[in-house]
Amino acid sequence: MARKRIVSGMRPTGKMHLGHLHGALNNWKSLQENYDCFYFIADWHALTSEYSNTSIIKESTYDIIIDWITIGLDPDLCTFFIQSHVMEHAELHLIFSMMTPLPWLERNPTYKEQLQELTQRDIYTYGFLGYPVLQAADILMYKANGVPVGEDQAPHVEMTREIARRFNHLYGEVFPAPDTLLAPTSKLLGLDRRKMSKSYNNAIFLSDAKEEVRQKVTRMITDPQRARRSDPGRPEVCNVFSFHEIYTSGEKVQQIDQDCRKAAIGCVECKNIMAENLNIALEPIREKRRELEANIDKVKDIMVRGDERARSIARETMEEVREVVKI
Ligand code: TRP
Ligand code: SF4
Repeated sequence: MARKRIVSGMRPTGKMHLGHLHGALNNWKSLQENYDCFYFIADWHALTSEYSNTSIIKESTYDIIIDWITIGLDPDLCTFFIQSHVMEHAELHLIFSMMTPLPWLERNPTYKEQLQELTQRDIYTYGFLGYPVLQAADILMYKANGVPVGEDQAPHVEMTREIARRFNHLYGEVFPAPDTLLAPTSKLLGLDRRKMSKSYNNAIFLSDAKEEVRQKVTRMITDPQRARRSDPGRPEVCNVFSFHEIYTSGEKVQQIDQDCRKAAIGCVECKNIMAENLNIALEPIREKRRELEANIDKVKDIMVRGDERARSIARETMEEVREVVKI
């Protein structure tokens, strides 16, 4: 039986950090054996917020693809492609835009939220309002059965289902309604305990060197109530501890938990242990990056192949769409 298909994308607005790894990429990776995966760079989506300074888009596209491969996404199992290299997405977006009721878009929670939050950028545009329509085109183009995303994207996948239903109702059954494959929520926060994000300057990147990792860990905020070395700490509220839970062996984690509560370990020492373990985990990723950067043509080939495979499916879907729409 053919493997079920999944589609997901990321906006190229900077390289990948540990927030991406634990919030999305590990989930993508766990699906690659059992699904036919399409993972793409959503450069048109990036344009909705970066249109006035587009250089970051090209700059980070290859960084991200390299990041994906270094963490174990396998180009032989997945199809990687670049959204703007498959022009059919724009055509399907346009057709969907004709039949998507405006109130669906105006009600979209991420739209309202982002309009308020991203006040430095003028995103009060036609394209930004239509963001989820383009996303629906990305997903339905491949007739995906599932979309692995974080909680924040769930409303967009819901709208994709509504657009699929509306299209099918108008023109006949063309698109399956995709499921949301929610990533397990990650407890990892940024250095300052806010959500990890490049724009907050609180991220540890997959490509950070050993020494950078050490220094960033030094800056991490721990249990805010543990002001003095002699104060007992609360690992359950400490972000350093969340990292230990991932990167330190179980036995040692228990030891740290007990020692922290008794003030038998200081935060400086605790952080040093964590940074060491994190660096051990990042080393094979760095090694893989060195290998790929020395063979950049190989990465380009992977993308050429991916773009082609995506395009061939997109072409078929669009033929079907044009036929049922009679255009
Ligand atoms: N909107 C997604 C994000 O910001 C990126 C994205 C674009 C996407 N198209 C998609 C995700 C299709 C899943 C499927 O993270
Ligand atoms: Fe956090 Fe470790 Fe300090 Fe405890 S000892 S508060 S776990 S950094």
